[in-house]
Amino acid sequence: MELKTDFSLKAFNTFKVEAAAARYVRFDSENEIVDFLGRNPLDGGRRLVLGGGSNVLFVDDFNGTVLHPLLKGIQVVKSGRQHIWIRAMAGENWDDLVAFAVDNGWGGIENLSLIPGSVGASAVQNIGAYGVEVKDLIDTVEAISIHSPEKIRFTPNDCRFGYRSSKFKGRWAGQFIITAVVFKLNRKADFVLAYPGVKSAVERLGPVTVETVRQAIVSIRQRKLPDPALIGNAGSFFKNPVIDGRALDGMLKLDPDLPHYPQGDGSYKLAAGWLIERCGWKGRGMGRAAVHDRQALVLVNLGGATGLEILELSEQVSGAVQAMFGIELDREVLVVP
Ligand code: EPU
Repeated sequence: MELKTDFSLKAFNTFKVEAAAARYVRFDSENEIVDFLGRNPLDGGRRLVLGGGSNVLFVDDFNGTVLHPLLKGIQVVKSGRQHIWIRAMAGENWDDLVAFAVDNGWGGIENLSLIPGSVGASAVQNIGAYGVEVKDLIDTVEAISIHSPEKIRFTPNDCRFGYRSSKFKGRWAGQFIITAVVFKLNRKADFVLAYPGVKSAVERLGPVTVETVRQAIVSIRQRKLPDPALIGNAGSFFKNPVIDGRALDGMLKLDPDLPHYPQGDGSYKLAAGWLIERCGWKGRGMGRAAVHDRQALVLVNLGGATGLEILELSEQVSGAVQAMFGIELDREVLVVP
């Protein structure tokens, strides 16, 4: 465990913005978390549980306690004829877990290759890409309650997963520290290749295996998305909006090219990147922040941008989409005031 005061979070957020935490605590084990919370009740104070920092935007110094679980370890906890259950500690890097599964030939998470962030955050955010969402692979989420430091296990049903959301992002925000996630993977892969461009990218690499799917996803992402190690960003800044059939008809009258994806319940998902591009914002900058030139859903720090500059850019972008299409974009990124 490490406890610091007035601690810079610049290295711990992928936007690479400067922000200091009044108090920062790094945990390396579950017992350290239980001990710390037992001795330091956090009930009243401001607190933030940080994962890989790839989905947060700090717009100011954080006048509270940042709790940073960096617990490591991946183990097989159960093995069946068709499935294998692996327990990964919250501080494991997400893509290291995907690589571990793929190296063992286990299927289920290969489409989620190269997503930045930690295992713990994958459950908060219900990460998803190329037709797969992590909620479908989660067996159990293990956490420690901030209030009474005891270990709790949640089923996927408890977590109320939705599109890039869960109870950990909503009503339970700041109430639990996720310590580990158990995933149920497939011994015999059941590939999800329907997302546009995935099947052809895999087939160019050879027979369809977990390795070729991973390779194809990695190259699709590398083509479109900026590498946070090179240019500050937090992936999609906004969520794709979901609208009903009537609203869609109205929008198609305005623009028949509008991409839309039926959700199976009468609603349709729109591509926020397309809407932003149509508004002329793709590749455009404002000071030291910009809309990425290959994927308009991603905002980037061109170097030295403050969190506030990035937030202001995001408001210009969402304002333009609202003015042109009458659609409110919800943020996917957590803005920490
Ligand atoms: N599009 C544009 N212009 C753009 C960006 C996209 O016209 O600048 C159009 C594309 O041509 C395509 C459609 O929008 O027709 C969808 O684009 P893409 O496949 O790139 O996916 P997305 O909807 O923009 C979502 C996720 C990504 C995820 C991809 C693949 C959200 C908010 N984002 O993006 O997730 O990788 O699908 O599944 O749902 C993330 O959450 O951080 C993230 C990167």
